[in-house]
Amino acid sequence: MPLLGLGLFKISDSQTMNTAVRSALDSGLRLFDTASAYGNEELLGDALASSGVPRGELFVTTKIWNNAQRLGDTAGAFHRSLKRLRLEYLDLYLIHWPIAGCSVRTWEEMIRLKESGLVRSIGVSNFDSAQLEMLHQETGVFPDVNQIEYHPLWDRKSLADYCRSRGIAVQAYAPLARGAYLNRLPLEHLAKKYDKTPAQIGLRYLVQMDISAIPRSECPDRIAENAAIFDFELTGAEIEMIRGLNEHLRVASIPEDIAGSF
Ligand SMILES: NC(=O)c1ccc[n+]([C@@H]2O[C@H](COP(=O)([O-])OP(=O)(O)OC[C@H]3O[C@@H](n4cnc5c(N)ncnc54)[C@H](OP(=O)(O)O)[C@@H]3O)[C@@H](O)[C@H]2O)c1
Repeated sequence: MPLLGLGLFKISDSQTMNTAVRSALDSGLRLFDTASAYGNEELLGDALASSGVPRGELFVTTKIWNNAQRLGDTAGAFHRSLKRLRLEYLDLYLIHWPIAGCSVRTWEEMIRLKESGLVRSIGVSNFDSAQLEMLHQETGVFPDVNQIEYHPLWDRKSLADYCRSRGIAVQAYAPLARGAYLNRLPLEHLAKKYDKTPAQIGLRYLVQMDISAIPRSECPDRIAENAAIFDFELTGAEIEMIRGLNEHLRVASIPEDIAGSF
């Protein structure tokens, strides 16, 4: 899985999608993160199909939403996503949220999808260590990936360490905390030192810890900015200093906040 990609939440028209995907590709990015709940899989499929970039170079992630889990419709949801994306296989399929009483059944079906070769890797999102252990206890298979909210204002090191110990790659969503840390002084100081922006410092912090990050932007300049983080290195002390900004800030909504999501 690439260490850096483009998140596509809230991108809802074809012009914005085409511009964002083109800018990401031009900046060297190959990972695109969507979800059936974002309602834009078709737009992404069209943008990728017209990009001319060979399928084998791309890494496409989508996610099963809660209603399909509750209906026990994992295979159906997967095939509908694949069709909307105009793909013959998916690189990564994730359970978007853990749903008590449903996740194990969903996970069993995802294991079968991986065995069929239609998806290269399977994983989860928003799972804690107990929920990951439960999937393993019930099926003998750990997820390949756990996608979680992770940024300088919410340190997830203990969960990331647990994931690493079980061979689960960690991917950070909302890695910019939707802008919440961009004016913090310590990040501004580091940005000045390295001739970078606070956003680039926050993203570098994650990838330097081997955490894959999927910042979202609709703006070509910011997409290019977010991709330009592989030409400098933070010191260990600077990583620790950034970790010290932790205030357990969650910026993303949880399903209970979203009307009709169950
Ligand atoms: N699995 C899950 O439950 C879950 C939940 C939330 C998100 N995600 C995924 O993670 C992706 C990223 O998370 P997110 O969209 O919530 O938040 P984010 O990436 O932390 O922040 C996105 C916001 O930051 C702005 N931005 C981007 N680059 C910037 C820069 N260099 N300087 C200043 N502002 C910048 C964007 O505005 P502009 O567009 O104007 O640049 C946008 O408003 C999503 O798109 C989605 O793919 C997954």
